[in-house]
Amino acid sequence: MWRLLGRRGPSGYSSSSTAEEVTEGIDGSGLTAIVTGASSGIGAETCRVLALRGVHVIMGVRNASAGACVKAVIIKEIPNAKVDVMVLDLSSMSSIRNFAENFNSQNLPLNILINNAGIAFAPFTLSEDGIELHFATNHLGHFLLTHLLLEGMKRTAQETNIEGRIIIVSSDSYKLTYHEGIRFDRINDELGYKSILAYGQSKLANILHAQELSKQLKHEDVKITVNALHPGGIVTNIMRYQGFLDGLVATLGKYVLKNVQQGAATTCYLALHPQVRGVSGKFFVDSNITEVKSHATDEDLAKKLWDFSMGLIKVQMTS
Ligand SMILES: NC(=O)c1ccc[n+]([C@@H]2O[C@H](COP(=O)([O-])OP(=O)(O)OC[C@H]3O[C@@H](n4cnc5c(N)ncnc54)[C@H](OP(=O)(O)O)[C@@H]3O)[C@@H](O)[C@H]2O)c1
Repeated sequence: MWRLLGRRGPSGYSSSSTAEEVTEGIDGSGLTAIVTGASSGIGAETCRVLALRGVHVIMGVRNASAGACVKAVIIKEIPNAKVDVMVLDLSSMSSIRNFAENFNSQNLPLNILINNAGIAFAPFTLSEDGIELHFATNHLGHFLLTHLLLEGMKRTAQETNIEGRIIIVSSDSYKLTYHEGIRFDRINDELGYKSILAYGQSKLANILHAQELSKQLKHEDVKITVNALHPGGIVTNIMRYQGFLDGLVATLGKYVLKNVQQGAATTCYLALHPQVRGVSGKFFVDSNITEVKSHATDEDLAKKLWDFSMGLIKVQMTS
């Protein structure tokens, strides 16, 4: 209720809090973060604010020149920012493998992984690996990336005794999925495809991924937390596949939606705030823990998705 009224929740923050406000006074120097989808919208603002707090930021972008532009803007504002751009296409398993190999070979620590990149409401398309594009980009690509970076994150957490944090940018749209939740048997079927449901399915997968990974890491007693979030409705490029709606968001959105400074707040809160130390497997909205619908807390579904995703990345890794 406090959220609907725009009031501050138990964390002390609200829907109008910005990423700078929720991280004010926090020193992130000595930390390294990877942010996916860093070339625009929430991801670009997340990089800026993490850099402002002293974090070494690796921007994972599929368009290197767009990434370089965002980096230049950040460096102009924060001349001593530590920001690197690396190419990463989350719809391509080979690109993800190259990114991870490249990153892992640099022997950098990895404290924070922000799985932010996403597409929404795209017409039916298969990725280069033959996977439906929302599922491939929003869920499976991040599932593989996390898998390939996890050993390094565990090592960093152990060596530094600093808690690692994995943050998965989901959406409230997880509520609007296919009636079976995840269409395991028909994940790549054009028949019955609805872009809105495909997006919702991928965002449900984000939450289930966070829950199952959090559970496994707790079980292993690893000092890494995993949380998912809904950033709010924000004026960004996310509606690019929906020409009319995209125009509507661009013109009227500023009156009713969050701006990117507010849209990046929950992500930055989860990345840096001491209030969430030790908190894992939760869903956050406006920098506050929020309950999710029962299909997003279904442990059997989360495990089934885990095994299914593992199967898909293994097939590709061995072929
Ligand atoms: N905006 C909202 O109202 C809203 C609401 C709920 C959830 N979200 C979530 O917030 C996240 C960020 O979205 P946004 O609103 O900031 O939208 P955005 O401005 O469109 O940013 C999306 C980012 O993801 C990148 N991306 C897309 N496909 C990619 C791929 N295959 N490989 C690598 N990067 C890729 C885009 O790169 P390019 O520029 O190269 O395409 C862009 O940097 C998404 O996960 C979205 O689902 C947004």
